[in-house]
Amino acid sequence: MEKNIAVIKGDGIGPEIVTEAMKILDRVAEKYGHVFNYEQLLMGGCSIDVNGVPLTDETIERCKAADAVLMGSIGGDTTTSPWYKLPADRRPEAGLLGIRKALGLFANLRPCLLYPQLSGACPLKEEISSKGFDMLIMRELTGGLYFGNRKTEEIDGVMTAVDTLKYDENEIRRIAVKAFDVAMQRKKKVTSVDKANVLDSSRHWRKVVEEVAKDYPEVALEHMLVDNCAMQLVKDPAQFDVMVTENMFGDILSDEASMITGSIGMLPSASMNETRFGLYEPSGGSAPDIAGQNKANPIATILSAAMMLRYSFGMAEEADAVEGAVAKVLEEGYRTGDIMSDGMKPVSCSDMGDKITEFI
Ligand code: IPM
Ligand code: MG
Repeated sequence: MEKNIAVIKGDGIGPEIVTEAMKILDRVAEKYGHVFNYEQLLMGGCSIDVNGVPLTDETIERCKAADAVLMGSIGGDTTTSPWYKLPADRRPEAGLLGIRKALGLFANLRPCLLYPQLSGACPLKEEISSKGFDMLIMRELTGGLYFGNRKTEEIDGVMTAVDTLKYDENEIRRIAVKAFDVAMQRKKKVTSVDKANVLDSSRHWRKVVEEVAKDYPEVALEHMLVDNCAMQLVKDPAQFDVMVTENMFGDILSDEASMITGSIGMLPSASMNETRFGLYEPSGGSAPDIAGQNKANPIATILSAAMMLRYSFGMAEEADAVEGAVAKVLEEGYRTGDIMSDGMKPVSCSDMGDKITEFI
């Protein structure tokens, strides 16, 4: 098969980790007889430096023309980078939110599993981590607080800021359908996370999710309040299979969930629209403190590329091969700094990419 991949390396560690993921894709192409064509595009801080804005129409159009988008990370140090002196709608993050919206990527899949080889890097007590866990967070990505009206203004002499949390039933239904569909391929359990004891938007969310659930009699649905969910994630993560939640709750809970896998450097993500098109990026940020030092963990980006093979290209065998190679490298004891533990072999970002390539 021949596929066109739009590549946004971005800022900070982005270029390093994406380079490793491309190495892996090249190996897959060679082994399975595919052709992957890459087109590199700017977004985020690097686009601000060149174009004055974090996202151009050209980048959006080129992404739309591609079969999938592979992305690294965007943004810099918010206290020192000049990008953060710009108005909020011209900062790097505005590019990321803009591309999610422009491409209609409403479903963000963040699989979170504890590799047995990394149980030592899991900060939870052994009695909890030994049970293992394998969950998928389905985060709504183009609605809620992130995209509601916001403003900061003086009202009666007092500076006041407002952000709006709005969901219509269609936005809730389509993400719920995605969650139930993927639960059917997994352990058939959906945990819908909300704050229905306080928020109207959550009560509405709950009602629509319950309607969708009627079409999936085999899937067990439970509702969980977001504060309780934050607690349950560290108390008993094995209880979760698919978790579906609104944009902001999903942002926060997925960072928490990533930490118990050992490192945010392990967590891939796929952002999909209604078709098979998706944007694939690690869940972590641009880590400007270690950028350019060949220290970053490329595994989340490599696993994101595996998700691209599976979900956008329908290449299940190839995706299995990449995921298997990651497990094998961990088995052999190779570790970047973030997942290092006693007795393991320290490797750089590029060494990690090379090792994974060897096992494909
Ligand atoms: C993420 C990130 C982004 C988000 C930021 C960089 C805008 O934290 O993908 O989780 O909040 O969605
Ligand atoms: Mg986040």
